[in-house]
Amino acid sequence: MINSKRYKTAQARLQKRDSRLIDKYLYSMRLSDETLKDIMNRFRREMEDGLGHGTNPTATVKMLPTFVRSIPDGSEKGDFIALDLGGSNFRILRVKVTQDKKQPVQMESQVYETPDDIIHGSGTQVRALELFDHVAECLGDFMEKQKIKDKKLPVGFTFSFPCAQSNVLEYAAKTGKIILTWTKKFKASGVEGTDVVKLLNKAIKKRGDYEADIMAVVNDTVGTMMTCGFDDQRCEVGIIIGTGTNACYMEEMRHIDQVEGDEGRMCINTEWGAFGDDGSLEDLRTEFDREIDRGSINPGKQLFEKMASGMYMGELVRLILVKMAKEGLLFEGRITPELLTKGKIETKHVSAIEKTKEGLKKCMEILTRLGVEPSDEDCLAVQHVCTIVSFRSANLIAATLGGILSRLKENKGVARLRTTVGIDGSLYKMHPQYARRLHKMVRRLVPDSDVRFLLSESGSGKGAAMVTAWCLTCLKCMLLQKAFSFFLPRNRHFHET
Ligand code: BGC
Repeated sequence: MINSKRYKTAQARLQKRDSRLIDKYLYSMRLSDETLKDIMNRFRREMEDGLGHGTNPTATVKMLPTFVRSIPDGSEKGDFIALDLGGSNFRILRVKVTQDKKQPVQMESQVYETPDDIIHGSGTQVRALELFDHVAECLGDFMEKQKIKDKKLPVGFTFSFPCAQSNVLEYAAKTGKIILTWTKKFKASGVEGTDVVKLLNKAIKKRGDYEADIMAVVNDTVGTMMTCGFDDQRCEVGIIIGTGTNACYMEEMRHIDQVEGDEGRMCINTEWGAFGDDGSLEDLRTEFDREIDRGSINPGKQLFEKMASGMYMGELVRLILVKMAKEGLLFEGRITPELLTKGKIETKHVSAIEKTKEGLKKCMEILTRLGVEPSDEDCLAVQHVCTIVSFRSANLIAATLGGILSRLKENKGVARLRTTVGIDGSLYKMHPQYARRLHKMVRRLVPDSDVRFLLSESGSGKGAAMVTAWCLTCLKCMLLQKAFSFFLPRNRHFHET
C-alpha cells in the first residue's frame, strides 16, 4: 500500500518530473470560470433555439415538451408498475403510493439483464421487436412473481431516450411517444421514428398471458424531478448524470412555441446531451473527445454527453493514458494489449482512483491488472488525469445547469433564485468528489441563488409511478380533457408515425 511518506516523496518527484508535461496534454480540459460562463451562455442560446417556433426544427438541443404541467402535490395514490429502461440497468418496480405519512411510497423492484445483441440491434426490424419482446417477457415474469398477472395495474414507463409526444397519456394509439433517436449504447434498429407504446403494447398482446395499461411514458429526468418533487414542492429541475446525461425543467408556457397556450408552466426535456452536435463546442473538444466520438456507435451525435457522462469517462482516461505512455510519460513507455483494449478502464475505476484514502492503492491495483507495472509516480499521475477528466465533466454540467438556473431566475423575475434540483445517475452518486465539485461550481456560476440538490433516492422508476399516479389524479378530476385540449401541439410531425 502507498503510505503517506511514499506518497509525499512520489508527489515531489512527480511535480518535478512530469506535471508540466501532463498539463501540456490536459491543458484544454481545464476550463476556466470565463470559459464556463461562455458555455453557459452558449447553452442558453441553444435552449432558446429549441423553444422557438422558427428555430426548433434545426435546433440541436431539442427542448421537448413533456406535457407534464405540475409536480405531484401529495394527493396521488395507488398501486403501479414502473418500467425503467435506458439507464445502467433495466428495472421493473411495483410502487404503492399511499396517504400514509410515515411511509407514503413502498417499492419492490427487480433488475433484468438485457442481452447486448438486443441492445445493439443488427440492421433489421426484427431486433427492434426483440427489444420490446424482451421487455414484455420480463414484465410477465415480474407480474408472475408479484402474483398480479390477473390484475391490470397501471404501468408507467421511464424510457430514457429522446422522444417526442403529443400528450403525456398514452391511451389512444394516436397519441404515442415517438422515439427520435437512440443514444448511449442502444441501437436496436427499426425503432427510431416509431411509437414506443405501440411497440410495447404489441409485444404484450402477442404474449397474451397478461394485460397492462401503459398510462404514461416519461424521460428519466422527468421521473427524477417528479420523485424529488414528491418530497420537495420547490423541485423544478431534474437532472441525470449517469451512463448518459440530460436535464428537464419547468418552463413558462408563454415561451414554448411548440405548444398552444400561454398560461402556467410545462416541463421541458432539454436533451442537453446533443449540445455541440452543430459544432458549437468545437473549440473545446479535445483530440480525445474526437477519438471517443469516432469509435462510438453514433458518431457526430451526443457530443456534450460524450464529454461529460459516465459511459465515456473511463474510456477518455484510457485514451489519455495510452497517448502518455506512447510518449514515454507513463509506465516507462510500457504499452500492453490490455491498456490498448477499449473499455478496459471504466468510469467506476475513475471513481475508485479518486477516493481520498484508498485511491492510490486502487489505482495501483487497476493499473497492475492492465500489466503496465506502474510506479508510485505513475499512480499519482494517473490519479491526476482522472481528476482533470472528472472535474471537466462536473464543470461542463455545472455550466449547462447554470444556463437552466439563470433562465429560471429570469423567468421568475427575482433577484435571488431559490430552487431545488432533483438529481440522479450513477456517476453523480458513485464518484467521491463529483457532487461537491458540481454544487460548488453551480453556486459560482449562478451566484444569486440558493440551490438545493436533492438526490432521487430510489431512481427514476419511482418517478414513472409518480407520473402515472399524477395522470390518474388528473383523470379522476375530469380535468384532463379540458386541460389538454388547450395544449395540442403545433408540430404535427410529433405524433404522426
Ligand atoms: C438520453 C436522455 C436521457 C439521458 C440520461 C441520454 O442519452 O438522450 O433521454 O435522459 O441519456 O439517461
